[in-house]
Amino acid sequence: MNVRPATPDDLMNMQHCNLLCLPENYLMKYYFYHALSWPQLSYVAEDERGNIVGYVLAKMEEETEDDDDRHGHITSLAVKRSHRRLGLAQKLMNQTARAMVEVFNAKYVSLHVRKSNRAALNLYNNTLKFSTSDIEPKYYADGEDAYAMRRDLVEFARQNDIAPANPETFFKSSSDRRRHEEKE
Ligand SMILES: CC(C)(COP(=O)(O)OP(=O)(O)OC[C@H]1O[C@@H](n2cnc3c(N)ncnc32)[C@H](O)[C@@H]1OP(=O)(O)O)[C@@H](O)C(=O)NCCC(=O)NCCS
Repeated sequence: MNVRPATPDDLMNMQHCNLLCLPENYLMKYYFYHALSWPQLSYVAEDERGNIVGYVLAKMEEETEDDDDRHGHITSLAVKRSHRRLGLAQKLMNQTARAMVEVFNAKYVSLHVRKSNRAALNLYNNTLKFSTSDIEPKYYADGEDAYAMRRDLVEFARQNDIAPANPETFFKSSSDRRRHEEKE
């Protein structure tokens, strides 16, 4: 099993995997939007024959000017039933987190998950150390609530020796920097 960055050639197979695994589905142009805008952030898992068995589709949230709020977002994550519990989702999520830090200086990554999704909640809470930032009532089309979750990437980068795109703004909060500038 191999995890590698997704290319435009993978998008059809990622969509296929999404349709098999999740009720939240997207038009092909939304996959292209991700792959063309943030080509470093989406990854696929493939089996020995090169078949796509899992993917993570990710982006940067770009509405913020504040360095402290610079963050990535997981649009979709899935692993085919036949290839679950092999650590693939964990690998996919760690690869995209690393790229968010190295390329975009992201301080955290966010996502939504159904309240009833026990497998995903275990993965996010226990394995990947996400925490719940909010509950969004009736977030999903069928009326189910979502947990909005975040993973601290500054801590992740420290623990895994990852070099951020801009260490100065990444490791210091903007209030620390302001205090420092006022003293000078
Ligand atoms: C959630 C999902 C992506 C997990 O993928 P996966 O490759 O099987 O996950 P991993 O093998 O990396 O699991 C890592 C850890 O997550 C937790 N976990 C994963 N699946 C679990 C399950 N079915 N039950 C309980 N814990 C689970 C475990 O702690 C696991 O570690 P362990 O195997 O050492 O116990 C997969 O089940 C899936 O595609 N589900 C349908 C789509 C989906 O729900 N996507 C997320 C939407 S927010």
